[in-house]
Amino acid sequence: MKKREKYEQLLPQAEALVAGEPDVIARMANVAALLHREMGFWWTGFYRVEGDHLVLGPFQGPVACTRIARGRGVCGTSWKEEHTIVVPDVEQFPGHIACSSESRSEIVVPVRRDGAIVAVLDIDSRELATFDDTDRLYLERIAALIY
Ligand code: SME
Repeated sequence: MKKREKYEQLLPQAEALVAGEPDVIARMANVAALLHREMGFWWTGFYRVEGDHLVLGPFQGPVACTRIARGRGVCGTSWKEEHTIVVPDVEQFPGHIACSSESRSEIVVPVRRDGAIVAVLDIDSRELATFDDTDRLYLERIAALIY
């Protein structure tokens, strides 16, 4: 199945999961699990804004860094610059934070509440150049479901 078709199947499932649950941690937890399982990602999770740091939230995959300063790494840069970042090769991204040496490519999508970024959705792959505009499009739609 093509990536786009997988996302098209997944989107209504994500909508149904969040529709029944107002708690944002529970929403993040099930959305991370759904994405991780259905898309076969290596690491899938959320970091939540707490003051001037991102703090690890619900995720699936290996243990990860718990705190990331604003402007640091791919996650902190996505937050600071307020847009999605697609990294085809993490070794080429200045300041990339290697939570796992196995991660090769990454996408980070801001999660907004009333326009302000309150979290990021971070997904890592063990292969180079996994993420493209299709991922960006659908993951931005999924991130918009959280709040
Ligand atoms: N690589 C990320 C850190 C988070 S882990 O990949 C789960 C970054 O540079 O922000």
